[in-house]
Amino acid sequence: MQIFETINELRGFLREARRQGKSVGLVPTMGALHEGHLALIRTAASETDVVVASIFVNPTQFGPQEDLAAYPRKLAADALLAAQAGVTAIFHPPVEEIYQPGNATWVEVTGSLTENLCGRSRPGHFRGVTTVVSRLFNIVQPDKAYFGQKDAQQVQVIKRMTRDLCFDIQIRVLPIVRESDGLALSSRNSYLSADERQAALVLSRSLAEAKQMVQAGERGTAVIEAAVKALIGQEPLAAIDYVELVHPDDLTRRDQLESTGLLAIAVCIGRTRLIDNMVLEVQACS
Ligand code: PAJ
Repeated sequence: MQIFETINELRGFLREARRQGKSVGLVPTMGALHEGHLALIRTAASETDVVVASIFVNPTQFGPQEDLAAYPRKLAADALLAAQAGVTAIFHPPVEEIYQPGNATWVEVTGSLTENLCGRSRPGHFRGVTTVVSRLFNIVQPDKAYFGQKDAQQVQVIKRMTRDLCFDIQIRVLPIVRESDGLALSSRNSYLSADERQAALVLSRSLAEAKQMVQAGERGTAVIEAAVKALIGQEPLAAIDYVELVHPDDLTRRDQLESTGLLAIAVCIGRTRLIDNMVLEVQACS
């Protein structure tokens, strides 16, 4: 496995791979790799010949009060894990390689996809995500790019960007990887104290509760959201950012759950903001 820090070197490597007829998979990450990232990498390695994992803590997707400086950076450990999971090349550029001095170009998806949920509480976040991911797509020009359902809104935003900018890239979305007790894996889980780690289970527990309500016949969006909020409200270390049941494609709210809904939540546990989600399916009558 090779580590590239410049666009030119990575492009040279990829040019040679393509000359040999190899397909290319891209797994964009911000590092501090865990099983969620590694599942993306393993799938990419099983579906494409050359797997590029980018490790880049993208400054433009962090708000001024957010954790850019504290975000975990552990390239040596990441490189080992990535190699074991089947990565061919890591792209680990310095900030100036992606954002040249005087950068004046941004990529932004507008409308309901970026206005709701995390878009409301993190203004500018998705503009940062689409700007960096479009650059990675242009640099690597992969056949397939791999993303996790953990960031369900990010997936919809990137799919729309890919369509609107005519990128010839297949977007592959893989399920959320969880700890055995239900906590969705996240690089930010490392911020949690032991008590907070325990309290954080309220996210997955409340989603499971909502799923049961739907299985028992509940269809009212407000009723389901209220039940989830009440459950999270019982956890003293938790403060709700949002709990919203939306349509999974356009991320807008409907009064009633139709065939499928996306229940998306963001909750601060102490000072750590965590997100989780679950797709709720209405079982058709037989
Ligand atoms: P990061 O948070 O490092 O996540 C990289 C990829 O791993 C994303 O597609 C994310 O959805 C996926 N992922 C994270 N936790 C997961 C889990 N528990 N199960 C499954 N997949 C999981 O998302 C980003 O970085 C950035 O926004 C990025 C796309 C790299 C742009 O900077």
